[in-house]
Amino acid sequence: MLVKRVDAKKEELLDPAGAAWRKSRGSKVVLSPTPLDIQPTEYVRVSWRGRPYGKVPSMRVSALHNGRDIFFRLVWEDDSADSKIADTNQFVDAVAVLFPIAADAPLIGMGIKGKPVNAWFWRADWEQPKNVAAEGMGTTQRRDDPALAAKARHTRGQWDVVISRSLNGKRAPKGTATLQAGTISKIAFAIWQGANQERAGIKAFSLDWQELQIEA
Ligand code: HEM
Repeated sequence: MLVKRVDAKKEELLDPAGAAWRKSRGSKVVLSPTPLDIQPTEYVRVSWRGRPYGKVPSMRVSALHNGRDIFFRLVWEDDSADSKIADTNQFVDAVAVLFPIAADAPLIGMGIKGKPVNAWFWRADWEQPKNVAAEGMGTTQRRDDPALAAKARHTRGQWDVVISRSLNGKRAPKGTATLQAGTISKIAFAIWQGANQERAGIKAFSLDWQELQIEA
């Protein structure tokens, strides 16, 4: 996936309807349900056995940067915009992008001890996306991160979300991935369908890391 460099302001690039996105067709990413057998708790393995999840089959991804910030536009079909939790059995729509912090961190299970990964996590009921770091399941750490931003709209049965963060130099803060113009990293995706009560490890995800080439 190529992240093209464009001369555009953050406000325009953060806007899913922004002119800068019109020229960028994006690529289709196929998603699959996360494996049930490796879910960390027996409760989850038993309660989701035989019950369909990871219902979003694919998404369209476009990526641009302006030398200061990097932006991912994520579009997927979802008939309902679930953005409120009014009861304990209600969950919201959400999307995340994942990057390796350790170059050879595994995707399946979100890293392992000593080989962390970093996700930017957007939920439909949040103003701001959150930074998530993990070294395997059961280790996810969520925190606010002012460097992250997102803007979303749900129209004609589709979520259209732009999520962004500042590009950073060599010394990325702990728990965050290094993303710099002129370098290559990797990326993966996950989508939670709130209407199907999907949350935490129960979601649709992209099976393999995709190469992420950030134009100089
Ligand atoms: C085989 C693939 C995957 C499995 C089995 C898996 C499993 C899990 C589990 C069990 C949790 C619950 C928290 C915990 O155990 O620490 C979790 C949380 C999370 N996962 Fe994954 N995951 C996978 C792939 C991904 C991918 C590809 C992404 C992002 C693109 C991702 C993003 C997240 C986020 C953001 C959370 C935190 C959710 C929250 O705080 O509510 N995961 N995952």
